[in-house]
Amino acid sequence: MNERDRKGHSAEHGPDAIVLKDVSFGYDPENPILHGLSLRIPQGQWVSLVGESGSGKSTLVKLLNALLPKSAGEITVCGEKLSEESILSIRRTIGMVFQNPDNQFVGETVEEDILFGLEGLCLSREEMDRRLRLYAGKLGISGLLAKHPGELSGGQKQRVAIVSILAMEPGVVIFDEASSMLDEESRNGLLDILRDMHAEGYTILMITHDADEILASQRVLALCGGGLAGDMTPAELFRSPGLMEECRLHAPYAWELSRKLEALGLAIGVPASEKELVETLWPFNCSK
Ligand SMILES: Nc1ncnc2c1ncn2[C@@H]1O[C@H](COP(=O)(O)OP(=O)(O)OP(=O)(O)O)[C@@H](O)[C@H]1O
Ligand SMILES: [Mg+2]
Repeated sequence: MNERDRKGHSAEHGPDAIVLKDVSFGYDPENPILHGLSLRIPQGQWVSLVGESGSGKSTLVKLLNALLPKSAGEITVCGEKLSEESILSIRRTIGMVFQNPDNQFVGETVEEDILFGLEGLCLSREEMDRRLRLYAGKLGISGLLAKHPGELSGGQKQRVAIVSILAMEPGVVIFDEASSMLDEESRNGLLDILRDMHAEGYTILMITHDADEILASQRVLALCGGGLAGDMTPAELFRSPGLMEECRLHAPYAWELSRKLEALGLAIGVPASEKELVETLWPFNCSK
């Protein structure tokens, strides 16, 4: 069994990826941000974490790998309970990609940058090289390995940041508003990457305000007032105007249009993307 399977990365019946039991935290103990939060994310699930600015989304994910210390409750990641002894191992199980790819570079070249992250894993040089080539190929950055990070576009930088994380073969990948600095083309590229990662069995937790990213995920957790205000499918969220307003979200264009068509008597279901919407509507055009 390889490292990835041991962590349950692709296993169908492994332990849950993330379990929180009654977790609380406050930067100021008098003023807690999260109150007794409990949730369970099975392995392989793609979850969007939403909530208005300041609701504690980034705080919550930082508790998962002990970048911040929870003040109460229990956190378990891929079957391992978070404790002083398990912090290092859990940090290897969770990979995090942040908003600004510029802040994530440490190397002089893209290759150096990716290898830097692998150096702490005590891998052989051959294994490091194998992972570098494999994940750079998957993310389409093989031609950029010799470049200085400053020569890259925003989308390319974010791809490098993702390769650095995937090369560490984590069981869970967390994106904290990772697409908010990207242009539309790079955003769509990131969504394609997420779809591939999901198909490969990664557990994905994505903090996002982006309606298309939410629509592409399987489940939405809405954080509000220090607790979960919603645990639902994207379709259920988009049908909840109160919660949408509370989380400062807008429904995706494909969703809005399909609702309007339904009201006109043309039920086309809920397309998962604009591309799927076009493919669904195309036959109606041809039949005229
Ligand atoms: N280091 C810190 N020290 C004190 N308070 C903090 C710190 N970081 C965040 N906060 C406060 O904690 C609350 C939650 O912040 P957090 O960054 O987790 O929210 P968020 O949901 O990620 O917001 P956004 O959508 O703007 O990224 C906010 O009121 C914020 O001001
Ligand atoms: Mg945040």
